[in-house]
Amino acid sequence: MLDGDHPPNNNSTNGFNVTDLFSPLLAGDLSLANRIVMAPLTRSRAGADGVPTEIMAEHYAQRASVGLIISEGTFQSLPGKAFDGQPGLVTPAQLAGWRKVTDAVHAEGGLIVAQVMHAGRATHPDISGFPVEAPSALAIDGETRAGGTKVAYPLPRALETDELPEIVETFVRSSQNAVDAGFDGVELHAANGYLLHEFLGTTSNMRTDAYGGTPENRIRFVVEVVRAVVAQLGAGRVGLRISPERNIQGLIEDDPVDVEAVYGGLMDALAPLGLAFVSVLHPEPAGALVQGLRSRFGGPFLVNTGFAEPTTRGEAVAMMAGSLTDAVVVGRAVIANPDLVRRWREELEENELDFSTLYAEGTVGYTDYPTYDDTKARAAS
Ligand SMILES: Cc1cc2nc3c(=O)[nH]c(=O)nc-3n(C[C@H](O)[C@H](O)[C@H](O)COP(=O)(O)O)c2cc1C
Repeated sequence: MLDGDHPPNNNSTNGFNVTDLFSPLLAGDLSLANRIVMAPLTRSRAGADGVPTEIMAEHYAQRASVGLIISEGTFQSLPGKAFDGQPGLVTPAQLAGWRKVTDAVHAEGGLIVAQVMHAGRATHPDISGFPVEAPSALAIDGETRAGGTKVAYPLPRALETDELPEIVETFVRSSQNAVDAGFDGVELHAANGYLLHEFLGTTSNMRTDAYGGTPENRIRFVVEVVRAVVAQLGAGRVGLRISPERNIQGLIEDDPVDVEAVYGGLMDALAPLGLAFVSVLHPEPAGALVQGLRSRFGGPFLVNTGFAEPTTRGEAVAMMAGSLTDAVVVGRAVIANPDLVRRWREELEENELDFSTLYAEGTVGYTDYPTYDDTKARAAS
């Protein structure tokens, strides 16, 4: 047989085809059984005190067959709380609540990291009980919900330069708290217009100190947070989420040159650290921006194509087959299908998502989506 019949197999690690959605992936210290990652999904089911509830343990455990669960965005300090019903990683009661969640996921053989976030300007004192803090005193032109009513986003207070080290510390403490509560690691949330993202963008950051102005200055705070959390937990348990060009919550990134400089510079700064992963939310995974960021980061890279349409099996399989990503981050399909991995592996039909119950109270639309077997058993009886 000619050597030409056996091209170097660049698509294989440990005997598995890495373009297969159902093959394992090693991401830092995280050993994923498959490449379907549950996206961070805010569902507002925690108590008013930010304590995770029993139904959250059930909800996450039901979805433990994904390669990795990324928890809903979880506040790292009380002023950083973004939504009513959001869980926190601050108080002993919150950590005890999370321990039930992580134990339940692990009992089902799953892996779970906490998405750690600070709301920045995208919150309200009626939600957090604190004045709103951000890189600059620039309000979002829009509304959020507090106590069931719509409220305008307030003008935030610009954080002083000498306050920033304490904010870094809150990320370190809450990340350590996450691991103490049984999480397998953390995903630092630098996407979707919250505090870390706000430092990156020109429409949310007009600082004149070393944290504003040039792309190099605007990435400084995110890099400091990542480095500090890595120093605490080890790089293999730390990931980062970004959403370049997301254009949300008044954070507009419409200058491609600046976007390339900011996010490319960020990837260059993070590359030597050996992070578990970078997760990117962007509608064009095959585009030059995303693939350029991937090669500059050089480590495990996760992709989600954003909100326009829910991620489908076909899209996920195609992204893997095209070697566009190391794993696919999936949101709405995992909400509606607790056994999504099986359904996608066996090409089974899927449940429809009920949008009306996304942020509802209690178990409806949360723990009551049936598995494929549940549906078949019901139909047979
Ligand atoms: C109900 C809901 C809540 C979300 N909450 C978060 C969140 O807490 N943190 C985050 O980074 N993204 C959040 N997202 C974005 C998702 O992680 C994901 O990027 C988005 O759903 C698009 O993926 P999909 O098409 O597979 O659903 C949320 C999306 C939805 C639909």
